[in-house]
Amino acid sequence: MTASAPSRFPHRHILGIEGMSPVEIGTLLDLAEGYIDVSTRKEKLGTLHGRTVMNLFFEDSTRTRTSFELAALRLGADVINMAVANSSVKKGETLIDTALTLHAMHPDVLIIRHPNSGAPHLLAQKLGCSVINAGDGSHEHPTQALLDALTIRRRKGTIAGLTVAICGDVAHSRVARSNIHLLQTMGARVRVVGPPTLMPPAIDRFGVEVFHDMKKGLTGCDIVMMLRLQLERMDGAFVPSLREYSHFYGLDHEMLAAAKPDALVMHPGPLNRGIEISTEVADEIDRSLILQQVEYGVATRMACLEAVVATLAEAGK
Ligand code: NCD
Repeated sequence: MTASAPSRFPHRHILGIEGMSPVEIGTLLDLAEGYIDVSTRKEKLGTLHGRTVMNLFFEDSTRTRTSFELAALRLGADVINMAVANSSVKKGETLIDTALTLHAMHPDVLIIRHPNSGAPHLLAQKLGCSVINAGDGSHEHPTQALLDALTIRRRKGTIAGLTVAICGDVAHSRVARSNIHLLQTMGARVRVVGPPTLMPPAIDRFGVEVFHDMKKGLTGCDIVMMLRLQLERMDGAFVPSLREYSHFYGLDHEMLAAAKPDALVMHPGPLNRGIEISTEVADEIDRSLILQQVEYGVATRMACLEAVVATLAEAGK
């Protein structure tokens, strides 16, 4: 990291995108950009040598957990993965007790994914280490929005001035929330597209354009970001049937034709092929950025780890 970088990201925690400034977001994206080649070459650096990173995942994850682990290993940190399924959480231990127990082993960074919104914020208040939010309920998923922004910036050259449609289950999506904050902060126009039942009640306060007709919502868009139906967060039926949902809101080539001819397709994964996205669109090499997003996830998480540890080091920790 350059000498000026830590003070441009003067935070010990990354809990959400809301409230981050364009300079802070830009600093993390620039750092991540510098790690793309390192990550592709599978180089191992010593930046986090002597530091311990703990992954604490209370919800399933494929991409986020493995990419945080790889990112920490590539920076030379010691990494512990706590599989909550095999832990004392199953014996009734509270989040705070679990976290305090782990904290007694002196981690420098705790990465947490939790079904409750605000869980990482609670830990950040109670613990002396850095905390990175790897997804809290339907609230925020800041590193996903950062890797999405890096993917867009590298492919389109800029984020400012683009029109981005975030489509599907916006109500239950932490990815949507973090992306709305980030994309607007960086000067993009954001639309949300989906049935009224899958829009958060306070959507008017997000400053986005709301569309319930998919084709209208996609017209003139540069980026089409699809979301999974988060069935695990729904207590009841939010759509009449998956078939009907897919008919009106699924992205296939015919639907994508409404967007700009050079529009690109994104999805944070995991995909539900044939529901929110067709296999043909998901696998279209020229237009689908889905695997690129996964690849840039490692570089982005390297940047986030480096930035918070630099702030710890500046504080003499
Ligand atoms: C997302 C998540 O867990 O919030 N996935 C991810 O982190 N790549 C989106 C989802 O689960 O649909």
